[in-house]
Amino acid sequence: MAKQNGGNAGKKGPSGRSYRNATGLTRQPKKMRGRKVSSQRWLTRQLNDPFVAEAKSRGFRSRAALKLEQIDDRYNLLKPGMAVVDLGCAPGGWMQVVSMRTKLGQGTARLVGIDLLETEGVVGADIFAGDVTDPQMLTAVETAIGGAADGVLSDMAADTTGHRPTDHLRTTALLEAALDFALGILNEDGFFLAKCFRGGAEKTVLDVMQQNFATVRHVKPAASRSESVESYVLATGFHGRNRTAMQEIDS
Ligand SMILES: C[S@@+](CC[C@H](N)C(=O)[O-])C[C@H]1O[C@@H](n2cnc3c(N)ncnc32)[C@H](O)[C@@H]1O
Repeated sequence: MAKQNGGNAGKKGPSGRSYRNATGLTRQPKKMRGRKVSSQRWLTRQLNDPFVAEAKSRGFRSRAALKLEQIDDRYNLLKPGMAVVDLGCAPGGWMQVVSMRTKLGQGTARLVGIDLLETEGVVGADIFAGDVTDPQMLTAVETAIGGAADGVLSDMAADTTGHRPTDHLRTTALLEAALDFALGILNEDGFFLAKCFRGGAEKTVLDVMQQNFATVRHVKPAASRSESVESYVLATGFHGRNRTAMQEIDS
């Protein structure tokens, strides 16, 4: 039987609503026949997830938008007028949050996103379809943001294979690429927020962050499923460019 409310039962959303539905029962999708068990499980979880309902009712393109909102409510990262890069931005939920909180379109705020997938436009933002591991794409992103950013976000995750160590390594490689990009573009005192999977291989990346930022912490917003290995690493207070880069640590 599917886990009730995707493991979020008893928690409260940003709106203060309880995650248990009124009856306390798990709702089942109508058309389950012919679907794989994993797909049935995903559908059931989506249907019973109050964060999915909340994101939808508030017009967000993704449930992930609530994760960024919750992190920002706690750490106050996004401010009007900031320049922000969003790596792995599709379908654009984080971009919606950044757009609102930086007051994109009013004043100096800038927002550039990139994803392998097409992302629906966000007014005032530049969006690229491409791979973050392609240096040419990163140069295009860097140019679009004007050569400097106050914050770099990465919610990138590699497609999962089902083999946890492999998935972990692949997502850590994306984390490394994102950090490398951030180190070359952030303004002094800037921040870096990126998805990471718990598992150990990210230690080298964390070491580089600790040498380049005043504070590095793991954050797990309420909207990140408690049973998921997903968490986020937040580095604030960038010391400035030309400090320890990834290559120096790797060698
Ligand atoms: C969890 S989703 C991001 C959701 C987004 N934060 C939102 O709120 O809508 C992760 C995204 O990372 C993207 N991604 C994965 N690897 C990538 C890569 N190498 N380059 C660019 N995007 C990548 C995926 O295509 C996917 O859209």
